Amino acid sequence: MKNIVIIGFMGTGKTQTAKALADELSLEYVSVDELIEKKEDRSINDIFREDGEKYFRAVEKEIVKEVSEGENQVIDAGGGVVLDEENMKNLKKSGIVICLWASPKVIHERTKEHGHRPLLNVEDPEGKIRDLLDERKPFYEKADEHIDTSDMDLQSVVSNIKEILNDK
Ligand code: S3P
Repeated sequence: MKNIVIIGFMGTGKTQTAKALADELSLEYVSVDELIEKKEDRSINDIFREDGEKYFRAVEKEIVKEVSEGENQVIDAGGGVVLDEENMKNLKKSGIVICLWASPKVIHERTKEHGHRPLLNVEDPEGKIRDLLDERKPFYEKADEHIDTSDMDLQSVVSNIKEILNDK
C-alpha cells in the first residue's frame, strides 16, 4: 500500500488521527488543506471570500492529484474532496481510503469554537452540518473503510485503523 488516506466531514478528527497515525507508523503526514494554503499563500477563509468555493475546489483538485502520486504518506484530505469523482479515483488508486464519521451534534461541539472553516461560519452551523452530511453521505460511502468517531478517543481511532491495516 502506498498511502493511507483519511477522509470525512469537518470535525470528525481527520487531522489529529492522521498526525498520530503518521507518527506511529513513521510515515509522512500530508495535509491537503495546508498545501492549498501554501500554494495560494493565503488562508482557506480568504480563498473562499476572495475567489469562491469553485476556485477553492479547482486548487484542491490539483493538490489531490499531486499528493496521490507520492507514497508512504498519511494524507489528511479536506472534508469536501469526496465531491469530485476524479479526486476519489486518484486517492483510491494511491492507497486505502478510510472515512471518519461523527454525528452532527458531536461535529458541532468539536467545531463550534473554530473560525477557520468558511462553510460553517453561518447562523445555524448545526443545521448546515446536518444538511451537508445528508448531501455528502453517498460520497463518503465510497471509502474503503468507515469509522464512527462520535464516542471514541484519538487512541482508539488510531488503534482501529491499525487493526484494519493489519487485516489487509
Ligand atoms: C471543507 C473542509 C475543510 C476545508 C474547507 C472545505 C469541506 O477541511 O477543506 O474548509 O468542504 O468540508 P477540514 O475537513 O479538514 O476541516
